[in-house]
Amino acid sequence: MSDAFDLIVIGSGPGGYVCAIRAAQLGLRVACVEKRETLGGTCLNIGCIPSKALLQSSENFNEARHGFAAHGVMVEGVKLDLERMHARKREVVQANTKGVEFLFRKNKVTWLRGEGRILGAGRVSVAGTEYETKAIVIATGSESTPLPGVAVDEKRIVTSTGALELSEVPKHLVVIGAGVIGLELGSVWRRLGAEVTVIEFLDRIVPTLDLDVAKDFQRILEKQGLKFRLGAKVTKAEPTDAGVTLTMEPARGGEAETLTADIVLLSIGRRVYVDGLGLEEAGIGRDERGRVWTDEHYATTVPGIYAIGDVRVGPMLAHKAEDEGIAIAELLAGQAGHVNYEAIPSVIYTWPEVATVGKTEDELKADGTEYVVGKFPFTANARARAIGNTDGYVKLMSEKGSDRLLGAQIIGPDAGTLIAELVTAIEFGASAEDVARICHAHPTLSEAVREAALAVEGHALHI
Ligand code: FAD
Ligand code: NAI
Repeated sequence: MSDAFDLIVIGSGPGGYVCAIRAAQLGLRVACVEKRETLGGTCLNIGCIPSKALLQSSENFNEARHGFAAHGVMVEGVKLDLERMHARKREVVQANTKGVEFLFRKNKVTWLRGEGRILGAGRVSVAGTEYETKAIVIATGSESTPLPGVAVDEKRIVTSTGALELSEVPKHLVVIGAGVIGLELGSVWRRLGAEVTVIEFLDRIVPTLDLDVAKDFQRILEKQGLKFRLGAKVTKAEPTDAGVTLTMEPARGGEAETLTADIVLLSIGRRVYVDGLGLEEAGIGRDERGRVWTDEHYATTVPGIYAIGDVRVGPMLAHKAEDEGIAIAELLAGQAGHVNYEAIPSVIYTWPEVATVGKTEDELKADGTEYVVGKFPFTANARARAIGNTDGYVKLMSEKGSDRLLGAQIIGPDAGTLIAELVTAIEFGASAEDVARICHAHPTLSEAVREAALAVEGHALHI
């Protein structure tokens, strides 16, 4: 038996590392177990951060080739140095993972290197050593969901991890799944010159968006050259000398057809990752979808063991994991940690970006809530015109009668930043009129948010 801790967190992703830091700030003796060579989990190493680095670099390349001329900036001979692009991405990742290491040292969080296994309440083994602790937080995250008949080798048939590392621009990239990963990484390789075909099982893209927003988003992506095959399922992907041959058929049955690709990206969702953790032996229960079961205070079925982030119910998002990490740390320190699940934003970092918070219109219809929609297009926003990015709009839903904001969807330039105002508004129970009466600087994209709020009452000013 080695050191005793107040808290051992297993996994150093945004859920785990934030939990460890917050608990240490509150005076707990904390260790965080991580088996990867670097801290930061999926998000910092192979998720949010490298994907955003490549999205930025590929957008710059695309702008230099196709966007600058409209501004009178004439550049010739724009060339891609993919190796440099990857090197920059690695630098960005390293700055972030090293940053977490620094924060651990600063807050006196002990990094236990190796695979953690739960031996029971209060007992964790890491690399052959057993540690005692008052509480355990499981934050082991998620992994790509496999598809029968599509064997991932991370070379030709890749998950997001391989798609972030391709050493050449594929001639034809086929993406399976029109969700967040497929559209973000599909956009990266499209901008760098690949032909990109996205195959989606449903009759629409991004099932978490309102259907009208999803359709408009698809049209914008099609203008950028992405091709979509909706209502189709891939039944087989076979690597050949030349690339990969895919067999697909209509989702509702029908004749199969084949398609060839250089690279196939499998992105049909993610599932919890709990390999080697000893859940069953420790008696930790799971829910109907295999996620670690917890109550609303993150407690599993075993007293003293908790779970946060991608391993438990809810959206698989870094900031949701972080907020749960803070909440459980505060609860363990005797405070009133809490997450408002009605106000968790979600952003797709394509160009334009797509950002949402709260209820979708489709959800409001389904649960019979009476609501009013206010919409304002970026074509009528002066700053969007000045920037030269007028695709998209702000769409707000407020409750009929009370005018309380219930949800927002933004498709447009910098939607991910703009959504923050609406997250704040929903968090504080604001009405559309509250947002409409706030002074917004001119000329900014944020004026479109105000105009959409004015539109709820039918009196937008600039349309
Ligand atoms: P993770 O980040 O998955 O971390 C879990 C960690 O636990 C890993 O480092 C793993 O090695 C470690 N671990 C597992 N088992 C053990 C064990 N037994 N012992 C020791 N260590 C263990 N979300 C966003 O909000 N915004 C984005 O832009 C975004 N982009 C993404 C892009 C991609 C390509 C992917 C794949 C995901 C993206 N996500 C994004 C999702 C985000 O990465 C996850 O929601 C987030 O990382 C979940 O955090 P977590 O702490 O629950 O787990
Ligand atoms: P996803 O759930 O976003 O999308 C998966 C898509 O695949 C859906 O449209 C689904 O209908 C489709 N699909 C499922 N089975 C299929 C099949 N057999 N054939 C064809 N299509 C099929 O999953 P994705 O893109 O893999 O991302 C996983 C998660 O990672 C996201 O849900 C999100 O939580 C997180 N993420 C978040 C990002 C962000 O916040 N910007 C970026 C990337 C990932």
